[in-house]
Amino acid sequence: PLVVAVIPAAGIGNRMQADRPKQYLSLAGKTILEHTVELLLSHPKIHSIVIAISAKDTYIHSLSIATHEKVTLVEGGAERADSVLSALSKVPKECWALVHDAARPCVAINDIDNLLSVMRDESVAGGILATPVRDTMKRASSKSDQPLISYTESREALWHALTPQLFPSTLLINALNRALQDGANVTDEASAIEHVGGKVALISGNPANIKITHPADLPLAEFYLQQRDK
Ligand code: CTP
Ligand code: MG
Repeated sequence: PLVVAVIPAAGIGNRMQADRPKQYLSLAGKTILEHTVELLLSHPKIHSIVIAISAKDTYIHSLSIATHEKVTLVEGGAERADSVLSALSKVPKECWALVHDAARPCVAINDIDNLLSVMRDESVAGGILATPVRDTMKRASSKSDQPLISYTESREALWHALTPQLFPSTLLINALNRALQDGANVTDEASAIEHVGGKVALISGNPANIKITHPADLPLAEFYLQQRDK
């Protein structure tokens, strides 16, 4: 099946507190968005890319990726899920959508290959890259000024959800629409698929595939990019 990448890149990067949305900050000589898009363009199994961009964006058109023959730009929405849905409207029905955050430039080709293998697994609806939780996890008791430990969660069963996340595009559109309608907490694609009862495979990915969120993530991402590409 054809695989089309969907990149939500319409956020404002509030937590980064920079002078521009974080996807346009420079990392080792080019913007975070260019690192992300160029890595996906280099993958032989990714047919094309749809990028969701904010209506207020003033940066995208200065980048050559904006006019690349395999790239389509669409207007994003208020929440990440709205941006993803907007981009999915440009993905052909019979395709698989590989949704990947603009803010994760350090993803490795090898991890994408492992994720793509879920398309051959008929026992699941799709899959996501994820990494096992490292720290001991505490559940806090009801909110007060001083949080208290209610109990310790079993770490064996906890994973960090990363991207890319891979699902048939039509299934994903229907699941996202339903989950949003039902007021579910839709912070990634898998949560929408879970909401409609779909089975999702956890594919163990490299923890270097961080989502650049805070200023301290920039030098860290630069280090991971150097490690990956050397
Ligand atoms: N995103 C999007 N549309 C939105 C919100 C987020 O396309 N309405 C994208 C971001 O551009 C980013 C990805 O979703 O590539 C993950 O979101 P996040 O890391 O939260 O980015 P921001 O929302 O931009 O950052 P913040 O939450 O700190 O404002
Ligand atoms: Mg956000």
